[in-house]
Amino acid sequence: MSVLDATWPAVRAALFRLDAERAHEWTLDALSSAPRLFGAVAGALASRPAPRPVTVCGLPFAGPVGLAAGLDKDGRALPFWGRLGFGFVEVGTVTAHPQPGNDKPRLFRLPEERAVINRMGFNNAGSEALAARARALRDRGVWSPVPVGANVGKSKVTAPEDAPADYATSVRRLQGLFDWFTVNVSSPNTPGLRALQDADALRALLPGVIDAARGTPVFVKLAPDLGDEALHAAVSLCRDIGVSGIVATNTTLRRDVLARDPGESGGLSGRPLWPVAKDRIRVVLAAAGPLPVIGVGGVERADQVRELLAMGCAAVQLYSSLIYEGPGLPARLHRELLP
Ligand code: FNR
Repeated sequence: MSVLDATWPAVRAALFRLDAERAHEWTLDALSSAPRLFGAVAGALASRPAPRPVTVCGLPFAGPVGLAAGLDKDGRALPFWGRLGFGFVEVGTVTAHPQPGNDKPRLFRLPEERAVINRMGFNNAGSEALAARARALRDRGVWSPVPVGANVGKSKVTAPEDAPADYATSVRRLQGLFDWFTVNVSSPNTPGLRALQDADALRALLPGVIDAARGTPVFVKLAPDLGDEALHAAVSLCRDIGVSGIVATNTTLRRDVLARDPGESGGLSGRPLWPVAKDRIRVVLAAAGPLPVIGVGGVERADQVRELLAMGCAAVQLYSSLIYEGPGLPARLHRELLP
């Protein structure tokens, strides 16, 4: 067991005394003040042998376990995550217009179920600010040691019919700075967003995004609440139109997977999402053919990573389990995955 793993229960107990969003902001504030330093120290404490690298769309992921979108929306601690032990990192969701997100409280821990419910609503400083930060980090030579993708979504103020221009604007601003883009059409907290998973809507949305990406791989992130037919249609369309990969899945609106529903609206993630996500990932894989699929949803142990990779996923992402298992988790998973 690493020092990070051994000390996490005490640190977690202190953080869990704080409101969930305050603990999150406090942690990101600290990390963003010296991401390389924190990364070097945490990486050393996590006792991190080199993981087995994987290549996805030509991108050299340092290991198969990556950080999912939403934790570091504005890339504030961007240089940290790879040093901590993640093989690849997705920042965002960012939108073309900066926006405050939904009213607080909007982030809830469900500790007995190792789950999280969030209705953040894409609180973010906007794609212009992320581009400026990325440029500054690159200029200062403080970039991530592992590939970084930017996840983009629709601004709340943008009408559904203007969604394609909204996404393309963000991608144009971020092009040349990130290793891939993920088109988020699956968060449940922006009204109407998930309707963009419809094949006709994707047909209107994706060509402009792919054009703006100018050869940078474009992934599409899908919801776990789509049925087989809708998933097949969305993935087939993605293949036809030249998308490079699929990220499956986002959070679920389902509550029947919980032992006790706290009655908060929003997307559910963490342990109860695992069986739902795995089932949907299987459908996505069947439709994806040669298209790489990044599996995400309730992953917290190495056997789950192994299972998703054995099913055919190219790599795996996680978010919620980091809150419960602590910062030693990515290094531990990679260590346990070594032959
Ligand atoms: C998320 N997730 C998310 N996804 C996304 O594409 N854009 C986003 O902005 C966010 N924001 C976000 C906030 C919070 C608080 C959580 C818990 C999650 C979804 C996330 O990337 C992932 O798809 C799901 O959480 C499922 O994985 P885990 O958390 O079960 O490992």
